Amino acid sequence: MQSITITKPDDFHLHIRDGDYMKCVVKHSAAQFARAIIMPNLRPPVLTTDDADAYRQRILSALNNQHDFEPLMTLYLTDNTSPEEIEKAAKSGFVKALKYYPAGATTNSDQGVTDIKKAYPALKAMSDHGLLLLMHGEVTESHIDIFDRETIFIDKVLKNLVTDFPNLKIVFEHITTRSAVEFVMQADSHVAATITPQHLLLSRNDLFRGGLRPHHYCLPILKAEDDRQAIMSAATSGNPKFFLGTDSAPHSSILKESACGCAGIYTAHIAMELYAEAFARADRLDKLEAFASNFGADFYGLPRNTGSITLIKKEQAVPESFPFANDTLTPYRAGETCAWRIQ
Ligand code: NCD
Ligand code: ZN
Repeated sequence: MQSITITKPDDFHLHIRDGDYMKCVVKHSAAQFARAIIMPNLRPPVLTTDDADAYRQRILSALNNQHDFEPLMTLYLTDNTSPEEIEKAAKSGFVKALKYYPAGATTNSDQGVTDIKKAYPALKAMSDHGLLLLMHGEVTESHIDIFDRETIFIDKVLKNLVTDFPNLKIVFEHITTRSAVEFVMQADSHVAATITPQHLLLSRNDLFRGGLRPHHYCLPILKAEDDRQAIMSAATSGNPKFFLGTDSAPHSSILKESACGCAGIYTAHIAMELYAEAFARADRLDKLEAFASNFGADFYGLPRNTGSITLIKKEQAVPESFPFANDTLTPYRAGETCAWRIQ
């Protein structure tokens, strides 16, 4: 049987929601990862260091301190985030980054940045104080083709930003296109990217395989097969600019299956198994540890984890659903299987 033991990994992009919803999902991530970057798109969003502190306490108490899991907090960048708040966040030690959502780009992003220039005072402070900028990299104009929004974002926003802030560490989150891979590769070492399991394993055909598949709908939307191959090459290349961020994003099944279903794929229950499946398909399992456990920590300036996990190639069945407060959550691969499992 094939197996691989790696240093305990980290998830550098995770949504766990709040309250009873959080209690249903956070244990999945805590069982696999040592640390996770916790996304701030709650309702209302995590805007201040005090908000992040309170959210962090709620996460730790939801886990009953049973798991050795460290939530790494982020603030939600708005047009009005002040340099003073940035300084406070940096001094806290537990806030590591700010998340940039173009207003209206995705789930709970209506308070996002309307014009990047409005955030320049905050970005300057982040650069000075060593906080990272995590970018949802899509333009939002509704006339622009949804499959082009990431590529156009690179030209319209990212290229200028990277030159205007040469010392600001920028993570281009959940990249989905060949153009994003190429941009990150040619940028200098202050630019990196996270990659999700769904963008390694699925292409846009999987949105319509035998019918409309709402549980494969996430943002940025799945792209063409050529893009998927570029993402796969980047993830498995051993280039330290590309590292793991699941973007696991739980929603109630009824909200995903409605006439206007919301964006987000839940992968936390089998996150590392999915990455193992993807890397094994590319015959690059030897590159998994660096992608999952080293490169992200290095880019964030965090110590690498001690401890390890072992993945074995043994099929596991995925449940049809998980409880989700008073609702249910339909996970990725619901009622199907995954080729790997954690020992
Ligand atoms: C995320 C969510 O549900 O919060 N959805 C998604 O499709 N990825 C938001 C995000 O990261 O875009
Ligand atoms: Zn996300």
